[in-house]
Amino acid sequence: MALAVVKPMSVPSGELNKRPMVSIDAVTMSFGSYVAVQDVNLTVADGEFLAIVGPTGCGKSTVLNAIAGLLKPANGTVVIDGAPVKGVQNDIGYLFQQDALLPWKTSIENVELGLLFKGVPSAERRERSMNWLAKVGLKGFEHRYPHQLSGGQRKRVQMAQALISGPKVILMDEPFSALDIHTRHLMQNELLRLWQEERRAVVMITHDLEEAIALGDRVAILAAGPRSRVIESFPVELERPRDVAEIKLDPRFMDLYRNIWASLRGEVEKSYERRD
Ligand SMILES: Nc1ncnc2c1ncn2[C@@H]1O[C@H](COP(=O)(O)OP(=O)(O)OP(=O)(O)O)[C@@H](O)[C@H]1O
Ligand SMILES: [Mg+2]
Repeated sequence: MALAVVKPMSVPSGELNKRPMVSIDAVTMSFGSYVAVQDVNLTVADGEFLAIVGPTGCGKSTVLNAIAGLLKPANGTVVIDGAPVKGVQNDIGYLFQQDALLPWKTSIENVELGLLFKGVPSAERRERSMNWLAKVGLKGFEHRYPHQLSGGQRKRVQMAQALISGPKVILMDEPFSALDIHTRHLMQNELLRLWQEERRAVVMITHDLEEAIALGDRVAILAAGPRSRVIESFPVELERPRDVAEIKLDPRFMDLYRNIWASLRGEVEKSYERRD
């Protein structure tokens, strides 16, 4: 299924450092006799933003959890920065779909958790956390509890918490899907701004193909499960910095969307058929 990928018409999205940061090599993930993903190969360069899309239940979170060391592959290897993943990784920032803040801790205390496990002394923790909360636009909200914040503000706290320790790899599992469209655009732009300041390898999972193209350097498609695998991978050669709302109006964005959707659509349909 060779689909023409839009040729870049201008500067590619920044000069990527090509050193591989995450290498997923022939990874198979099983739950009992159910083989969720089989023989997945993916490499993410340092500083690269990879978006993964695929139908619901195909194994996206499972792949992300293998990178984080939360699940062990039945076969194959995951390597981060040259070292095989053998257990839970602490060089990783994980941004979850659901609210992952501790409800009994304030914003600042939640952000500090990102440093606590690294053994950073308390005065330095406090100072760096204050700075990060300001960076994500939450100056003055340091002592609020999660229930005293809006959904978007809680997401900002989570972003600060995931990024404060300067992780080598940032994993995101549909981080913005619970937000309304305007807040989502704001948060996506915010994420891009923070990421551009200090580019890390990112693996983001999303249901939203527009989000994948607007944010990613590359979009990989996972097939419908079981035995899901990467069926195609599309480079997104749209220059940065990007504004996620504006970039959707770019004709190159629309061409890319059409191309990727032509490939993804069949998998989404298969996954619905298999459910009956
Ligand atoms: N702990 C588990 N035990 C048994 N089966 C599991 C487990 N976790 C996931 N699965 C199954 O593996 C498959 C992949 O699940 P996964 O959560 O990775 O899908 P996903 O692509 O992230 O879906 P969604 O887009 O809905 O979040 C699904 O069929 C799911 O039911
Ligand atoms: Mg999932």
